[in-house]
Amino acid sequence: MKILLLITFYLISGPVGCVDVPGYKGGRVKIYCIPQTAVYFCKFKTQTKCEYLIEAQEQNKWINKDRFSLYHSTGSLTLIFRNLSLQDAGMYRCGETRAMTWSRDINLKVNSDPCCSGTRTVTGYLGQTVTIRCSYPVEFEKNSKHFYKRTGDYEHEVIYTNGREQYQDGRFSISDDRRNKVFSVNISDVREDDGGVYFCTVWKTEESIGYYSFFTKVHLHVTDDTDRPQTGFSFIITVCASVTLLLLIGGSVLVYKLKKRKTRDSASISQRTEGSHTVSNNLLCCSEKQHVYKCKGHT
Ligand SMILES: *[C@@H]1O[C@H](CO)[C@@H](O)[C@H](O)[C@H]1NC(C)=O
Ligand SMILES: *[C@@H]1O[C@H](CO)[C@@H](O)[C@H](O)[C@H]1NC(C)=O
Repeated sequence: MKILLLITFYLISGPVGCVDVPGYKGGRVKIYCIPQTAVYFCKFKTQTKCEYLIEAQEQNKWINKDRFSLYHSTGSLTLIFRNLSLQDAGMYRCGETRAMTWSRDINLKVNSDPCCSGTRTVTGYLGQTVTIRCSYPVEFEKNSKHFYKRTGDYEHEVIYTNGREQYQDGRFSISDDRRNKVFSVNISDVREDDGGVYFCTVWKTEESIGYYSFFTKVHLHVTDDTDRPQTGFSFIITVCASVTLLLLIGGSVLVYKLKKRKTRDSASISQRTEGSHTVSNNLLCCSEKQHVYKCKGHT
């Protein structure tokens, strides 16, 4: 077994920049570190001991170890953490190997917010349009939103948007609804090879550190239109309709009873407003995609 190289920092000259990198459980992060010359990347085990995750022996070549990949070229270092777990959280440092004067500390946080981490499955029908929605954490509102597809261990960008405008590239289009913190990607004329794993992603740069945080994993399952199950959507509608009907009946009974008991305005009005609020909340699950509803329900 190879002995892990340790770097000990006794002298720290000048202030060290520190950047928070939010990752999501099960997701991945790709961190770019951009100094001028050769660099290292290590994880702090104690306050003074920083251990290399992978040794950057060779330049211009991906080096893989477990869930990590490292790419080192002159003047930049890229590190990918895959399938993030809570144990990956902690302080890391990226710095110049020779001069030891330039370094950045990276505080990798691993969130497990049910809204924006984990895996979802979306079904697309051949020749039709499929919409994939990515609910994102509030802190990413102003960042660019990217949609990536996994290719083996790596991933490639499909489309991205910088702002509010809808952007189209061939069969793909993207738009960011900042008010509802959700960005959507449409794939029109769905083909067999569109199937696979995609990532809802954000990009941010700060203090010579850039990172992509791949937060939600989306499995796109492509199928023939003739396989389309009759139940799926109509089942949801039926359930919503039943729930709405029950609430309406329940509401009417309540209002009726209240009126019957006491015809005092104030009490009956406040009860009625409460009843209608519940009903409109439930109607949301008919008009909105399921995951958006779930996401809102969680908060
Ligand atoms: C991701 O990591 C978890 C443990 O943290 C493991 O159970 C799971 O199988 C891993 N998933 C993949 C796709 O490697
Ligand atoms: C996706 O398609 C839907 C329905 O066709 C449309 O309302 C929406 O604006 C499209 N979004 C994008 C990003 O193209």
